[in-house]
Amino acid sequence: MLRNFIDKFFAIPFIYHYARWMFTLGIRYEPIKSYLDPQSDDSILDIACGVGTYTKIVGEAKYLGVDLNEEYIETANKEWGSNSRKFEVQDVLTIDQKYPKGSFNKGMMLGLIHHLPEEDALKLLKKSSEILTERLVVMDNYYSKWHLINNLVCHLDRGKYVRTVEHERMILKQYFDIEKERRYYVNSLLAHYVVFQLKPKKNLS
Ligand SMILES: C[S@@+](CC[C@H](N)C(=O)[O-])C[C@H]1O[C@@H](n2cnc3c(N)ncnc32)[C@H](O)[C@@H]1O
Repeated sequence: MLRNFIDKFFAIPFIYHYARWMFTLGIRYEPIKSYLDPQSDDSILDIACGVGTYTKIVGEAKYLGVDLNEEYIETANKEWGSNSRKFEVQDVLTIDQKYPKGSFNKGMMLGLIHHLPEEDALKLLKKSSEILTERLVVMDNYYSKWHLINNLVCHLDRGKYVRTVEHERMILKQYFDIEKERRYYVNSLLAHYVVFQLKPKKNLS
């Protein structure tokens, strides 16, 4: 019942945006930006962009955000949409039907993998490794041995597949080489995230 309530409550765009802001005491953009390293000639795919929170870091790059939640996409379009920044409703699991191999050079996948069971996560990573030519930045929450508040938040998360860092790394390595990895706390210290800079492995069957 609590989970049902959380799912419905956070599906509302402004509640999701502001509740997250208050819980974290402000979004930390720098760990994602430094790994993505956006340039004006980049073409960036934001896989499960939510309300477009991380659009802020892409600068002049060409950007497309996709997400399943129609209200999130509507909000993102109003807030961030422009000629070079587009948002579309799209199930990321069928993303290859719309975007051919090599369509973008960089991608972000922030807070998504813990929403996906193993099989779907692997399918999506395979497709992403084909659509992206250069880099994928993945960020996620994770269970740790001792941070009990973080673990409680993970347990209550709308994503039902929160993993350990070791497990997430193992999944990512099937289709990407890990170039960099770091863990960081949100400003409130109530939770921590791991971020990976990944390079697509090519010529995998
Ligand atoms: C924790 S939110 C992260 C949003 C955004 N990346 C951010 O960090 O602000 C997870 C997002 O994944 C989206 N999502 C989950 N499964 C999806 C799917 N199969 N296709 C597209 N979006 C999906 C949800 O709608 C939600 O917006």
